[in-house]
Amino acid sequence: RPRRVILSGIQPTGIPHLGNYLGALSNWVKLQKSAEPEDKLLFSIVGWHALTLPQDPAALLAARNDMLAVLLAIGIDPDRSILFHQDHNPHHTELSWILSCITPMGKLRRMTTWKSRLAAARNSGSEDMVDESMLNAGLFMYPVLQAADVLVYKATHVPVGDDQQQHIELTRDIADIFNRTFKGTSPLFPLPTYVNTPSKRILSLKDPTSKMSKSSPDVQSRILLTDIASQIQSKIRAAVTDSIQGITYDPQGRPGTSNLLTILAACTDSDVTQVAKAYESQGHGTLKRDVAEAVEEFLKGPRAQFDRIRQETSYLDEVARRGAVRAIEQSEVTMMEVKTRLGL
Ligand code: ADP
Ligand code: NA
Repeated sequence: RPRRVILSGIQPTGIPHLGNYLGALSNWVKLQKSAEPEDKLLFSIVGWHALTLPQDPAALLAARNDMLAVLLAIGIDPDRSILFHQDHNPHHTELSWILSCITPMGKLRRMTTWKSRLAAARNSGSEDMVDESMLNAGLFMYPVLQAADVLVYKATHVPVGDDQQQHIELTRDIADIFNRTFKGTSPLFPLPTYVNTPSKRILSLKDPTSKMSKSSPDVQSRILLTDIASQIQSKIRAAVTDSIQGITYDPQGRPGTSNLLTILAACTDSDVTQVAKAYESQGHGTLKRDVAEAVEEFLKGPRAQFDRIRQETSYLDEVARRGAVRAIEQSEVTMMEVKTRLGL
């Protein structure tokens, strides 16, 4: 079967929380393990995308290094996978401009990510600042840059969260428009497949009706990959559950309790219904104690690796430099083909 080119990206948002780890990053490590030797894997830290929101330069620089160290710490192997900073490869932005010139504005306006930005701007805006005037053009163009991220490597498979599915569909649309507009002897871009990795949605420890998120002002609501045992314990102990006797897995009726079971199952690599069965007649105290232990056991390896690797700045620079060289090597040919078809 044809070799797959698998590409995924994550924003440089600093230290990931348990939701990011279980919901997204751990899938990258699994993919790396299960991929065929002839599959190509590309994992990027998408700094260009981060610029769509205000960033403190020093914090952004630190967050980019943190994320690189995290990916190495959890087991992304820079010899097996091309691990790189998106902003080290100018081909992304070059192709993004080209693609923007064949992308209908109407398609971008239909993106739910854009629509929710607009809605938020409307709600927070003062009366003299209306809608789009509050938002930068980068936010609007975000999905085109994402399409360029994928197409510049002729990626065939894109494992991302379901909030990104619409962007991958747009990427296919844009690839198809390009292929039909600039025909050549054969279609230039493969239409990439959205891969919905079975991901666990981890909920906020303080408000289990919403997902665990870095944007919540309550730091007790999330566990960070770098949290030490005592922090994990106190956060799990303070997790909101319910006053129902016994433990059952019921995400609708008992979101807090079920979230703890989800976390326990994920951290021990077991089935959530079986875990729930084992705790049937237990109380929340026992469950919380065991969840805290399992999370600590799950995170302590990556945390120790992170602490070590994060100090080795020359190693991080070297990984980033090699990643950039390999990424550019991959996209160079595509850019030449694109330009030839355009008459550039
Ligand atoms: P946040 O919501 O904390 O801002 P991002 O939006 O940056 O996180 O998401 C980064 C990745 O982590 C995405 O692939 C997203 O689907 C995944 N992710 C984020 N929060 C969770 C969560 N609570 N549970 C599972 N996956 C999550
Ligand atoms: Na988010």
